[in-house]
Amino acid sequence: MIHVRGLAKEYADLKRGKFAALAGISFDAFPGEIYGLLGPNGAGKTTALRIISTVLRPTAGTATVNGFDVLTQASQVRHQIGFMSANTGVYDRMTAWEMVEFFGKLYGLSDELLRTRMEDLFTRLKMNDIRDQLGAKMSTGMKQKVSIARALVHNPPILIFDEATSGLDVLVARALLNTVAELRDQGKCVVFSTHIMREAEKLCNRLAIMYRGLILAEGTLEELRDKHRENDLEELFFRLISDHERARAEAGNAADDAAAAVQDIQASVKS
Ligand SMILES: Nc1ncnc2c1ncn2[C@@H]1O[C@H](COP(=O)(O)OP(=O)(O)OP(=O)(O)O)[C@@H](O)[C@H]1O
Ligand SMILES: [Mg+2]
Repeated sequence: MIHVRGLAKEYADLKRGKFAALAGISFDAFPGEIYGLLGPNGAGKTTALRIISTVLRPTAGTATVNGFDVLTQASQVRHQIGFMSANTGVYDRMTAWEMVEFFGKLYGLSDELLRTRMEDLFTRLKMNDIRDQLGAKMSTGMKQKVSIARALVHNPPILIFDEATSGLDVLVARALLNTVAELRDQGKCVVFSTHIMREAEKLCNRLAIMYRGLILAEGTLEELRDKHRENDLEELFFRLISDHERARAEAGNAADDAAAAVQDIQASVKS
């Protein structure tokens, strides 16, 4: 399972200066559930998932994966996780079989175990017809299958899907979502990020609605609907975001007022 506490990531950017891509988020994800991160572009989903999979270091906060700390036990964490995103690399000059085998070997699987796993995966994901296909000649859907096989080859207890269906047609996307649901049913802990309401609604057992590096709301779909008295997830999503923007604008106005008051006081002291 995954425990995230106060996770923050600050970037320094020429245009924006210092800004928080993640502003302190906390959540837990458990075996046998799909935990969704739902948020618009730039909300911080990928940043959070990359920290959890040890690709990126946080500025503050902690995350543990099956008891291992992402900062101090990165190598153990990587063995617990299978990571898949829309742009997980598929190499042009390797075949489907070679790529999955390559990653299995990186994880240190024995030849025999690796072969059994791969036979099983290629059958389950219906990849036997593309065994010898080179990456360069694969369609997007074929590449996605290779990416899934690559994420599953070491049979990790935790799977992370970052916008995994982006660029897929409805048929391939549906097949991928079915695979994700099967993994959950096998008892895996799945974290799934998306900006597509329908995917989140259909698939996720619990959801975090993310915006500007924060979790604005969290819970099961029922809990969110009850708490915010709104049945339509899309409406709920827009409402949370516009409330947040309004609060930000008010805080901004309050800060402007305070600055103006300070200037007034300084001016009156001088005169
Ligand atoms: N290396 C970086 N340097 C500076 N800013 C970055 C960097 N990586 C991400 N960001 C910024 O951090 C914020 C969060 O980005 P992130 O990729 O986590 O969002 P996301 O929720 O995954 O969005 P999307 O739905 O577009 O994938 C954005 O404002 C982005 O511009
Ligand atoms: Mg992203």
